[in-house]
Amino acid sequence: MRRLLPVLLALLLTCAALVAPARAGSAPEVTYDRYSLIVNGRRIVLQSAEFHYFRLPSQELWRDVMEKFKAAGFNAVSLYFSWAYHSPAPGVYDFSGVRDVDRLLRTARETGLYVIARPGPYINAESTGGGFPAWLKTVPGRARSFEPGYREAYREWLHRINPIIARHQLPRGGPVILYNAENEYQVGTDAAYMQDIQDQARADGITVPITTNDCCDAGSWSSTWASGPGAVQIPGVDDYPQSFECANPALWGPWGEGLTERLRDDIPVFAAEYQAGAIDVGNAGYDKCRELTGPAFMKFFYKNNLIQTGATMFSYYMGYGGTNWGWLAQPNDVYTSYDYGAALTEARRPTPKYDEFKRQGYFLEAVAPLARTDALATPAVPGDAALTTVARANPDTGTQFVLVRHTDRAATGTDTTTLDWAAPDGRYQVPVRVKGRDAHVLVAGYDLGGQRLAVSTSEIMTHAAIGGRDVALLYGTAGAPGATVLRYPSAPSVKVLEGAVRAAYSGGDLRLDYAHDRLARVLVTGGGRRPLLLLIGTDEEAARFWRVSTAAGPLLVRGPELVRSATLRGDVVSLAADTVAGEIEVFAPPSATRLDLTAGQGASERVRVARTPSGSLLGVTRAPAPARLPELTGWRARAEAPEAAPGFDDSRWTAADHTTTTSPHPPKTLPVLYADDYGYHYGNVWYRGHFTATGAETGIDLNAITGLRGTYLVWLNGRYLGAAAGGVQADSGDQATPPNPDPGPGHFAIPPGLLRPGADNVLAVLVANMGHNDDWIADDLRFKQPRGLVAASVSGTVGGTPIAWKIQGTAGTDALRGPLSTGGLYGERVGWHLPKYQDKAWRKTAPATALTPGVTWYRTSFRLDLPKGQDVPIGLRFGGDPSPAYRVLIFLNGWNVGQYGGDIGPQREFSLPAGILAEHGTNTLALAVTAEQPATGPGPLTLFAYGNVRGGP
Ligand code: GAL
Repeated sequence: MRRLLPVLLALLLTCAALVAPARAGSAPEVTYDRYSLIVNGRRIVLQSAEFHYFRLPSQELWRDVMEKFKAAGFNAVSLYFSWAYHSPAPGVYDFSGVRDVDRLLRTARETGLYVIARPGPYINAESTGGGFPAWLKTVPGRARSFEPGYREAYREWLHRINPIIARHQLPRGGPVILYNAENEYQVGTDAAYMQDIQDQARADGITVPITTNDCCDAGSWSSTWASGPGAVQIPGVDDYPQSFECANPALWGPWGEGLTERLRDDIPVFAAEYQAGAIDVGNAGYDKCRELTGPAFMKFFYKNNLIQTGATMFSYYMGYGGTNWGWLAQPNDVYTSYDYGAALTEARRPTPKYDEFKRQGYFLEAVAPLARTDALATPAVPGDAALTTVARANPDTGTQFVLVRHTDRAATGTDTTTLDWAAPDGRYQVPVRVKGRDAHVLVAGYDLGGQRLAVSTSEIMTHAAIGGRDVALLYGTAGAPGATVLRYPSAPSVKVLEGAVRAAYSGGDLRLDYAHDRLARVLVTGGGRRPLLLLIGTDEEAARFWRVSTAAGPLLVRGPELVRSATLRGDVVSLAADTVAGEIEVFAPPSATRLDLTAGQGASERVRVARTPSGSLLGVTRAPAPARLPELTGWRARAEAPEAAPGFDDSRWTAADHTTTTSPHPPKTLPVLYADDYGYHYGNVWYRGHFTATGAETGIDLNAITGLRGTYLVWLNGRYLGAAAGGVQADSGDQATPPNPDPGPGHFAIPPGLLRPGADNVLAVLVANMGHNDDWIADDLRFKQPRGLVAASVSGTVGGTPIAWKIQGTAGTDALRGPLSTGGLYGERVGWHLPKYQDKAWRKTAPATALTPGVTWYRTSFRLDLPKGQDVPIGLRFGGDPSPAYRVLIFLNGWNVGQYGGDIGPQREFSLPAGILAEHGTNTLALAVTAEQPATGPGPLTLFAYGNVRGGP
């Protein structure tokens, strides 16, 4: 009880703080009601994107990703924290370097993003063990339950990660506004566990509201468990309506309507994970995933969700996917790239999906009444049954939001109609055109800055008060008709600066009619209001705009690839922007006359600008300097696998002699050979088995479990006997079927003359460990499926031949690169992958030459001197096709950046992120090629640039 007291006290205090109504000017806090989150007394529509810092091992680039989120109108980032990434062994935790989550959270705050902290303990995320460290496989007690063993383990993790998260919470000046407990934890599993995670969090100082993300059987921690043990404050729902069938990008909501349910009346509707990309389960390539979840899907599904259910909390999975470098991948669903078809590519490049996030995000940010709406009987009636309207209104301002879309959600045709709209300011007939699989959110009765928007059939992207006038940016589909009606006490003066816009004033209404075409500009002055510059663009034109805040108010910028931040000092606008050759236009107060561009941390450069009739400053940006990339030459090679030789000294290897295991999978033969039981958790592992032959032995029978696409290679007395596929998680999709740990024996006949009767015979087996299964269904069996040999015997003798086993995996955790980078190949154990290794004695040969079975290493180095003040993401490309005959581990400066070949996936290009990559200096590439049969090695290999802009983080 004494130990419980502080927990109870903390609980009481935090509950008192959390239920307190929001008060403006009071201490920073996060509250909520049925409409929205209320942060520091202000309602927000939460627009969050998921980012996995552990999939981008470069602290400098975390800032880039988060700045890009912010620039697209996101106000939050959702962060999983991976237990496996930080903990190589029980009691050992590392938060240094690329694992420095303090820095991560500081960067979020500096970037101006709130944080949804998701420390699990289970995270799934297609990451090894679903975020569980592999050592947890040897801990008794069912994972994801309240059972002892597991309980002590997850508490250990929580007590390490929670205090870090706690000190970065909003009430303490940090960015964290929500804490997500567990991950898609289904009801009926273990409420005590779910409750304990929250109790631990509170005891560790977490005071922000606790959320959870429900899957599939939405409502589990909400309706059923609204107040019982395990219930969280704000449950949300995960939704992936487009499925993961990237090979078929024309699919349209095969997994449903994608409408996030209202779970409770006292909390906002929370789309805790909403699909924003896909895992590439069918190896179609991520460009196809990006197509499957592209702008059309985003427009239709996201806008439906906003208006139909009134959701005000969105977290999109993923905003940036990153890389399964090292042994980070859960092997059944993903390969090295976790690009995810996200809005930002693995190389951090914005895509058309990013543009769509920006159009929607800016709208949510600019139009405050959206944060509090009720459903409304449709005020806007379409004159055509092909189209449907759905509406919401803000009860305080009366502002209406009308969604217009096709009645049949799968319709592909274009329909045009006139809406008959009973809007707050009057009844309006306005034209609207909707493409198939598109949707528009139209606004009426809105105080747009100093203006009154009666109604518009263009969508609002953003608006800003700049220099005593309003600048508003509206947009619509190219060629579609649009009408915007603004209210004025008296006739204003209207000047169409660009484009074809007809204006008519009558009865207080200024009505503008037009077709969306490039960028129209209309200047409205007088009429009893402050001036308005109305910009009406197509989707594409609108996406070229950036809205950025300065201490002197907001600015709009047109043209650059990205605007990260801005200042306005005296008459100088200074932009941190990414640019290529093109126009740049800045909408700033009239006092601004000069424009500087700052490139990353580098020097700034003045851009010559002229004042336009719109009152903006217009200039031209320069093309980035070309990046010259060296050819990859000077390769040297060395074959390894001395472990296969009978005389190899394995005396210092670990004896594999356990006769019992905590694994829920009983061994088929003894001793227990599971690699995890001997502390070898990641990457390749070697076994050497010694037996005294009678001479009657005829074959070797082995079972190994590797995870999907893993293999094992077998030698006897130094002779290569061949390879076989390792066992995998048998995931039939039927959750009741336990995984099949038994791939069936790999039988290796002993060639005549190889046995040495009466003497020591040596089996050497190299087993790949492709990563650990996840524990999505919390049955323990999948996650705890062993890795390595699970059965071994020699056939041909009566009663069998006993084998004495030794095992060797990784030679220790790499302090810089963490527990997941390095496995147990000979070259890894002795440092052939490391930059400082001297390879002068190796033979000169390129990788694309004849390979023999076994492991061959290749090394080369190259110098880079990328243009300063530019962002040039670099990749490594393998020419030719990936071969099933070999698999390649790729090391850049000692970091395992991925795996190629071996049927691992369709990937030919591998990201070499700056930070790991020396952009101005010498880099070392090392390849460890494991061949199962004679083949021509990989290549040719080249470096390439994914992009090139001036600027950068
Ligand atoms: C969700 C899960 C995420 C991720 C996603 C698919 O169910 O919560 O962690 O696995 O699916 O990418």
